[in-house]
Amino acid sequence: MKKVMLIFGTRPEAIKMCPLVLVLQKHPAFETVVCVTGQHRQMLDQILNCFQVVPKYDLGIMQQQQTLFDVTVNILLKIRDILQAEKPDVVLVHGDTSTAFSTSLACFYLQIPVGHVEAGLRTYNLRSPFPEEFNRQAVDLISHFYFAPTENSRQNLLREGKPAEDVYVTGNTVIDALSTTVSENYSSPEIEWAKGSRLLLLTAHRRENLGTPMRHMFSAIRRVVDEMPDVKLIYPMHMNPSVREMAKRCFSGQERIHMIEPLDVLDFHNIMARAYLIMTDSGGIQEEAPSLGKPVLVMRDTTERPEGLEAGTLKLVGTAEQPIYDAVMELLADPEKYHEMERAVNPYGDGHASQYIAEILEKRLKA
Ligand code: UD1
Ligand code: UDP
Repeated sequence: MKKVMLIFGTRPEAIKMCPLVLVLQKHPAFETVVCVTGQHRQMLDQILNCFQVVPKYDLGIMQQQQTLFDVTVNILLKIRDILQAEKPDVVLVHGDTSTAFSTSLACFYLQIPVGHVEAGLRTYNLRSPFPEEFNRQAVDLISHFYFAPTENSRQNLLREGKPAEDVYVTGNTVIDALSTTVSENYSSPEIEWAKGSRLLLLTAHRRENLGTPMRHMFSAIRRVVDEMPDVKLIYPMHMNPSVREMAKRCFSGQERIHMIEPLDVLDFHNIMARAYLIMTDSGGIQEEAPSLGKPVLVMRDTTERPEGLEAGTLKLVGTAEQPIYDAVMELLADPEKYHEMERAVNPYGDGHASQYIAEILEKRLKA
């Protein structure tokens, strides 16, 4: 049996790695070891509970308002002994977080092969998203196996000279997760509250948007809700205190805005499926919404996910107040523009990405 260790630490990594954990655990060729860094605490545990994944190791590194130094150094120091004790045949990391970067670096120092799930996403702008563009490029520098979600991400890797025989297009495991969560007869108090209104769903948390850009984003949205009586907005707030402070400053006093705690992924996916429009600076939501046919205004200057833009479901609107306000108002006022974006497309695979990754690993580790 080959030992596969999966290491992750934040909410989006957990959402996209848990389906893979469940597939690998059932596979007779593998011994599966899960280690979480605890870069996130509550938001990570929420997902682990949802998928009923129990880690063997938990580094528990989260601190309030942690810096990139805190996260990177604490993971590096704590992961070394675990990797040396477990001696995995391969370590799987996900995406572009500090957890993925620090873990890969530790594996590189110990000469343990790394498989990168969601490899090859790029903006080629090291400042946006920050520090994720650096993280994902650095992880790809170190990796042995590349699990690219789309042909576009495969091409990025090939252009950078990664060996073609190590790059696989598998789809994105987020679609595996989505196929287990969305259900027809879902309801919740939030959905009941929004009945009869057009529901806007907001998420925002990016490090490079903290401060002024976030104030502009939130002010634009507040103006829209103030002016449009048939609109209600749900904002499951990220747990970063800087984000919460800004949200409370900009949204308090408007009854048609619900600022709530982070939602369970099952609730979030189902609310997303019932929203009229999504506004976000998140990465994962840009992958989920197109397959649900939900228009998304992406409040960022760049995106590493061109697939949804090409399909027409995503629109990049930047972080300045007036363009965001204009873009939301246009979609609320112009049904034709709205329907143009409302197309369901799924560039991210058939919901079996985890299975493909397991099959590839079985073949490669045997060899
Ligand atoms: C991290 C990732 C980002 C990803 C995001 C997903 C890096 C550099 N950033 O950013 O790529 O998009 O996660 O959400 O890896 N906090 C809690 N409880 C939690 C989670 C966070 O209290 O469960 C608070 C803490 O005060 C923490 C702060 O949020 O210090 C920021 O967390 P951190 O992981 O450093 O950054 P994110 O913005 O969440
Ligand atoms: N999500 C969730 N609950 C919420 C908000 C988001 O489960 O209240 C999910 C969402 O469906 C997506 C992921 O979290 O799968 C996105 O995480 P986040 O925006 O924190 O990170 P990013 O994708 O930007 O790295």
